[in-house]
Amino acid sequence: MMTAEENTLLTSTGPGSACGTLLRRYWQPVALSEELKPGGAPLPVRILGEDLVLFRDDRGRPGLLGIHCCHRGADLSYGRVEDGGLRCIYHGWLYDVHGNCLDQPGEPEGGRQRASFRQPAYPCQERVGVVFAYMGGDEPPLLRNFEFLGAPADHVFVSKIYHECNYLQGNEGNIDPVHLSFLHRNLRESARDKARVVRGGDSSPNSLFGRDIAPAIEVELTEFGVRIYTTRQLQDDRQYLRVSYFVMPNLSAFPGQTGGDGYSINWHVPVDDTHHWKFVFVYSRSKPISREVALRDRSEMTADYRLIRSKANRYLQDRDSMRDQSFSGIGLNFQAQDLCVTEGEGPVQDRTQEHLVTSDKAIVAARKRILSGLRDVQDGGEAPSVRRVAASNRFPDLAVLSEVVPASISIREYTRKRAAETA
Ligand code: FES
Ligand SMILES: [Fe+2]
Repeated sequence: MMTAEENTLLTSTGPGSACGTLLRRYWQPVALSEELKPGGAPLPVRILGEDLVLFRDDRGRPGLLGIHCCHRGADLSYGRVEDGGLRCIYHGWLYDVHGNCLDQPGEPEGGRQRASFRQPAYPCQERVGVVFAYMGGDEPPLLRNFEFLGAPADHVFVSKIYHECNYLQGNEGNIDPVHLSFLHRNLRESARDKARVVRGGDSSPNSLFGRDIAPAIEVELTEFGVRIYTTRQLQDDRQYLRVSYFVMPNLSAFPGQTGGDGYSINWHVPVDDTHHWKFVFVYSRSKPISREVALRDRSEMTADYRLIRSKANRYLQDRDSMRDQSFSGIGLNFQAQDLCVTEGEGPVQDRTQEHLVTSDKAIVAARKRILSGLRDVQDGGEAPSVRRVAASNRFPDLAVLSEVVPASISIREYTRKRAAETA
């Protein structure tokens, strides 16, 4: 059980908070590239409790500025994109992506002192269809070069989903292997389920989740987070091994729709302490993402990246379907099922009231990792797993697995071997 102080420490993310300071030491996703069409409107965004405007300048560069114009505070998301920056519609001041004031047209000579005015600005870069920003305020580190971020754009499908709850409880769902045997179980296997046979086996993850509902879980600390080994025993001297990860400070990697050929990432970015965006990356290692996967991920979503199933409609739970179709009664879409249980924990889960058990050990390990990371930063140190040198900007031991293997093998040794094969 946690103390109220620890819970506040882990879940408060605004400017100046300990966890907010830690999160700001990493590049964070702030929008999908598709939201910033060339020549399109600036996008108001709220990230880590800060109101900002994201725009793409007339050279195609993304820029993230404070939303209130540094003159007299007008909302820059109504601004004009022109002349190498974003121009406020109140008195025409013009800012570039770095926050430099390029023009004050209502002043003599376009503002003789304009170089001394700065609009708050955060550096941005784009990768695989996502705009990342660095809000740390100091010299930005490198964007960590996880395998999925170095992949060709058509091997990664990205989306995002709005959640009305704190970022941490969203991410804790990803590192909780037991809920796969309950929340996400299809009681009647669809053709799609049946087609997803795992490596080394003859059945789908869904079927394997049902064959051992109380898996063994082991955790191991890695340089970048926590590795989670989950083994489900099968009847025939074999086991279903699933290896997933908590990655500092607010993302997870796990076997998703692409099975062992790649993996999925859920990256939980606070809007503020009671709302967050889950950025979803589906990565396929050997071939481009199929159109079917892409369309399926967007099929139950509104144009503004909300799921149609929501708290307001009780996630359209169908109790008849709970008898023989799905354990949850909330359709077949994992995202909606996860939304129901994580939002159901409340705007910020009160962790002083929870009762952790043996199967929550990855969650305990991840919380410890975040707490020690935020103390490192408070003490003036570098945030864990930040990279500043290109040669070391690799993560070859992030090997995500979903495989049926002999029950007798050492899962740690086997995972090391498989990591070397895919590195
Ligand atoms: S408030 Fe923006 S230019 Fe005056
Ligand atoms: Fe889930």
